[in-house]
Amino acid sequence: MSKDTLSVTDNSTGKTTEFPILRPVHGNPTVDISSLPKDLDYFTFDPGFVSTASCKSDITYIDGGKGVLLYRGYPIDQLAEKSSYLEVAYLLMNGELPTKAEFEDFDAEIKSMSMINESLKSFFNGFYHDAHPMAMMTGVVASLSAFYHEALDMHDDEHRRLSAHRMIAKIPTIAAACYKHSIGQPIVYPRNDLSYCENFLNMMFSVPAEEYVIDPVAVKALELLFILHADHEQNASTSTVRLTGSTGANPFACVAAGNAALWGPAHGGANEAVLIMLDEIGSVENIPKFIAKAKDKNDPFKLMGFGHRVYRNFDPRAKIIREMCHEVLSNLGEENPLFELALKLEQVALEDAYFVERKLYPNVDFYSGLIYKALGIPEGMFTAMFSLARTSGWVAHWLEMMEDPSLKIGRPRQLYMGAAMRDYVPEAER
Ligand code: CMC
Repeated sequence: MSKDTLSVTDNSTGKTTEFPILRPVHGNPTVDISSLPKDLDYFTFDPGFVSTASCKSDITYIDGGKGVLLYRGYPIDQLAEKSSYLEVAYLLMNGELPTKAEFEDFDAEIKSMSMINESLKSFFNGFYHDAHPMAMMTGVVASLSAFYHEALDMHDDEHRRLSAHRMIAKIPTIAAACYKHSIGQPIVYPRNDLSYCENFLNMMFSVPAEEYVIDPVAVKALELLFILHADHEQNASTSTVRLTGSTGANPFACVAAGNAALWGPAHGGANEAVLIMLDEIGSVENIPKFIAKAKDKNDPFKLMGFGHRVYRNFDPRAKIIREMCHEVLSNLGEENPLFELALKLEQVALEDAYFVERKLYPNVDFYSGLIYKALGIPEGMFTAMFSLARTSGWVAHWLEMMEDPSLKIGRPRQLYMGAAMRDYVPEAER
C-alpha cells in the first residue's frame, strides 16, 4: 500500500482498491471515498456524520482533544482578547485581518445597510406577541429574499458580497425588533454613530420616552460573546446552510434554514435550556438529584450545556466565558445565585465518573446565558443572540462554498431498511 492511500479489500470478491488519503493542514488524515460506489459498488454508512468530512474548508479548525479553536489560523483566546466582532466577521469571510482602511470601508458599508425595509416591520405585527424570537427570526430572515431581487444572482461575485454584508448588517436590527415586538415596544432604528454591539444594545433597550446610556461593560461582554459564537466549522446549522446553499438557494433562505437548525435544544437552543435547568435545580442541595437524572438512561434529562460532539476536553469558549461571567457580574455589582449554582454544578459533574469517562465538559452554552441574563436579555432571546453572532460564520461558509468551482449539490445516500418490493393490495383484500 502506498503511503498516501488506504487499500480496501472486498473479501467477497477479493478485489482491492486504493483510496487517496488527504492530508489537512491540521487534523486527522481523511480518506477520499468519493469513488467507492464506482470502484466497489458500495456506499458508506455514518449516521450523524461522526467520521465524515462533508467539505474542504479554510475557515475554522477545532482540535476537540486539545480544546483548540482557530478562526483562519488565529487562536480564539487571542481574538477574544484583542479583536472585535466586526473585525472577526471580516476575517471569517475574507481569510485575513483587515488593514485600517479595509476595516473602515467594511464598517461603513455594514452601517449603511443596517436598516430594514419599512414593509418588513409589518411582518412583526403579524406575529402573536408571545411568538418565540427564533420563530420570528427564521421567518423574517427568509423574507429578506423578497426584498433584494436585484442582487440575487449567486454566480455574480458582487451580488454574493452584497448579500453576505446585508445579512450581517441587518441581523442585529431583526433580532432587536423580535424582542421589541415580544414586549410591545416600538422597534428602534439603528444608529450609524454607534459600533455594531453598541447599536444592538441601543436597539434592544432604548425607548423613545427616555435617554438610554450604553454600558461599556455590556458592550465588551457582547463583543466577546459574539466573537466566541461567530463560527464553529461544520456544526448542524452551518452544515444546513451549506446543504441548502448547494442547491443554489439564495443566501437569505440558507441563513433562515441555519436558524431553524440552530433552534434545537441539542444545538443553539441549549443556552436557553441551561437557564431553565438551573432555575429548575434551584439550589445546591438539589444538584445530586439532577446529576443522577442526567446519568439515568431511562430519563431523557441531560445536563444542558455539557458535552460536545467534537470537544472531548474543555470547550475553550466555555473557559473564556466563565471568566467573563466573573467580570460582568462583579462589575454589575450583582449577587448571582444562579452563577454560584452553575459553578457548583460544573464542579460536581467534573468529579463524577460518568462525566469523566465520557469526557463531558461544559460547552459554550453553559455560561453564556448567565451573562445574557445579567445584561437584561431574557431567556427566550438567548438562541436569537447565538443566531445573530453565528450569521457571520454562516455567510462565510456560504461564500466559501459558492466560490468553490467543484461545488456539487449535497445529496446523501441512505441504507434502505423498509419493505421489499411488493404488489399493491386492493382495499378489500387488506
Ligand atoms: N448529559 C448527560 N449525558 C450526556 C450528555 C449530557 N449533557 N451529553 C452526552 N451524554 C452522554 C450520552 O448519553 C452518551 O452516553 P452513552 O455513551 O452511555 O450512551 C455519551 O455521553 C456520549 O454522548 P453522545 O450523545 O454520543 O454525544 P453526541 O456527540 O452525539 O452529542 C451533544 C453531543 C452536544 C448533542 C450532547 O452532549 C448533548 O445533548 N448535550 C446537551 C445539549 C447541549 O449542551 N448542546 C450544546 C452543544 S455546544 C453549542 C452548539 O453546538 O450549539
